[in-house]
Amino acid sequence: MAVISKCLRKGSETAAYVADQAAGQISRWLEPNELPDPGNLFLRRYGPWALVTGAARAEGVGYGFARRLAGRNFSLVLVDNRGPDLERRAAELRARYDVKVRPVVLDLGEPDFAEALQAQTSDIEVGLLVCNHMATPADTPPILEMDLATLHAMLDINARAYTTLIHTYGRQMAARGRGGMVVVSSGAGLMPTPYTGAYSANKAYQIALGEALWYELQSRGVDVTVAVLGLTNTQGDALAGYPQFMVAEVDPTVVEILDNLGKSPQVIPGTVNKLFLAAQTRLMPRRMALQTIGGFMARGLGKDKQPEPVSRPEIAAPIA
Ligand SMILES: NC(=O)c1ccc[n+]([C@@H]2O[C@H](COP(=O)([O-])OP(=O)(O)OC[C@H]3O[C@@H](n4cnc5c(N)ncnc54)[C@H](OP(=O)(O)O)[C@@H]3O)[C@@H](O)[C@H]2O)c1
Repeated sequence: MAVISKCLRKGSETAAYVADQAAGQISRWLEPNELPDPGNLFLRRYGPWALVTGAARAEGVGYGFARRLAGRNFSLVLVDNRGPDLERRAAELRARYDVKVRPVVLDLGEPDFAEALQAQTSDIEVGLLVCNHMATPADTPPILEMDLATLHAMLDINARAYTTLIHTYGRQMAARGRGGMVVVSSGAGLMPTPYTGAYSANKAYQIALGEALWYELQSRGVDVTVAVLGLTNTQGDALAGYPQFMVAEVDPTVVEILDNLGKSPQVIPGTVNKLFLAAQTRLMPRRMALQTIGGFMARGLGKDKQPEPVSRPEIAAPIA
């Protein structure tokens, strides 16, 4: 019996491995790797400077944007609170692409960050804004187990700072009649996501703000796209608990987003991500989708199984 169950386990592990590899290969075939833009119209439309927030980590999506844009000859303002990492990224980009890079070390959770940022960008034309930074606790506690100061700080960084950046640079673009904004959000903003519920609510805010702006700025020459990312390979072992065929790579993600700027109010990069989100938001009833995503997150994050609901006292008679 033990031998049979060992064989079955080995067989299912092998099948899962083969399915994972095949899915990875298929998504590499289906997803773009380069922006098709021979005349560099993109730079002419959205240059000469791009401002990317959250660009300090070498593995991060922000640095992925910075690399692609530097490859398109954009000059770059990179903003992050990680000073030494940001300086390193700036030096790498200058050396590899021979472009201008201004690293600006800022805490985007500070209420007056916009003044400091404007002082560093008043002499240049920021034609493309990529709002990409984010903050969420690494241990992803349930909402009521987080302290209120952390929840408020997340609102400042993930909602207030996005609003300030968009208002500041979006107004300048609208006055010029030219520009682009990418709002980097998440599938967690399309579907409420237990165990990362506060982040999920911040991301929903970004989606609503960005898509409404897409509409309002259509006639002003400014293109807005909200990027709804799924699991993306930026967080090392933190994503090890999820099925690996669902984890997208940064480069094709960034290319697909930039390629959709000006074409679509929302882009969901990656085939697997598109299917996963379509199942949750279009096929399943809301309650079922919430239960499913709650279980998915609990498994991925190694959380305990959700306990049975407590029994509620029977109400025998109406309360007077
Ligand atoms: N990776 C995924 O699986 C995934 C999935 C869906 C959506 N996304 C979205 O994609 C975007 C990029 O994600 P990522 O995984 O590449 O993130 P990341 O590598 O963690 O980059 C975010 C950067 O923002 C910085 N930051 C945080 N708070 C800041 C503040 N107050 N002031 C200035 N900088 C601050 C972070 O610094 P610290 O590290 O010091 O905080 C970090 O360098 C985010 O908007 C995220 O929500 C990612």
